[in-house]
Amino acid sequence: MVETLEPLNGMPLTANLKAHYERTADLLHSNRGLVAHPPLISQYPLDAYNKVDGLSLLRSTMSACIPLVIFDPQYRHNLDHLKYGNEGARQKGRAKYPQQGNEEIVAMGAQIERILMPSGYVMLWCDMYIHVTGASLKFFPNLTPVCDVIWDKGAIGMGYRTRRRCERAVFFQKPPIGARAAKLAVRWKTQPTIPDVWLEKITDKIHAHQKPQGLQQAVIEAITEPGQVVVDPVAGSFSVMAAAHACGRRFLGCDILGSPAEQAEHLKQLESA
Ligand SMILES: C[S@@+](CC[C@H](N)C(=O)[O-])C[C@H]1O[C@@H](n2cnc3c(N)ncnc32)[C@H](O)[C@@H]1O
Repeated sequence: MVETLEPLNGMPLTANLKAHYERTADLLHSNRGLVAHPPLISQYPLDAYNKVDGLSLLRSTMSACIPLVIFDPQYRHNLDHLKYGNEGARQKGRAKYPQQGNEEIVAMGAQIERILMPSGYVMLWCDMYIHVTGASLKFFPNLTPVCDVIWDKGAIGMGYRTRRRCERAVFFQKPPIGARAAKLAVRWKTQPTIPDVWLEKITDKIHAHQKPQGLQQAVIEAITEPGQVVVDPVAGSFSVMAAAHACGRRFLGCDILGSPAEQAEHLKQLESA
């Protein structure tokens, strides 16, 4: 049982959630000077916990203006492969978050391709099935896979044969493809150099699928300039917002369940139903 602290927007906060909100607010505040005049790129506010379908947020965003999208869909097929995905009694508990089928992910992929600047990047979090079947190529038919990174969670998880300890992210680039040529609109800076195996343990978990803030921050710093906007249309714990704010970048993103506090409330209601 986690301690409940004072409510935010009517939602009770756990200790981890409260720490998350404070850290995010501090980071944004300390970097305000860099970003006094945000570009009007979307009908949704920047640096906010938008509660909306990611496809609507992407559709409302201007074309060719985003250097980096970090994308971590709630892969529906994962449950299907694990045989928890049929409409049986077990699904209720397993499928806590709204699941996304391939059609929906492909539709988001098309919008992501549209909003990326020339030479802009997508960092796509992949599970094992996406990785080995090459399914991610269908999400971004007009982008080129250019590199990947394995995230070592530093802790052993579940698994029937081998037990999971890592997750993968693949980087796709919009044409013109290249890393550091002066003519590119988006350049991958040499420093800091990111190794393709990255060890980072998450200690303050507020979402079942939370991704490492440190790795995402290193990627944001390599690809974007201070004040530029990073997009995450399926934000979960909003780890990308925290990473963007930690290095003076802006954030545009949403989760269909809303803020982490609203998500926690949703899960609580599911459990008690
Ligand atoms: C894999 S999690 C993302 C985790 C996130 N990368 C993090 O670090 O915490 C996917 C999230 O997508 C949300 N989601 C599912 N369908 C969505 C949709 N159509 N639009 C926006 N969010 C959606 C789920 O509620 C879930 O929180």
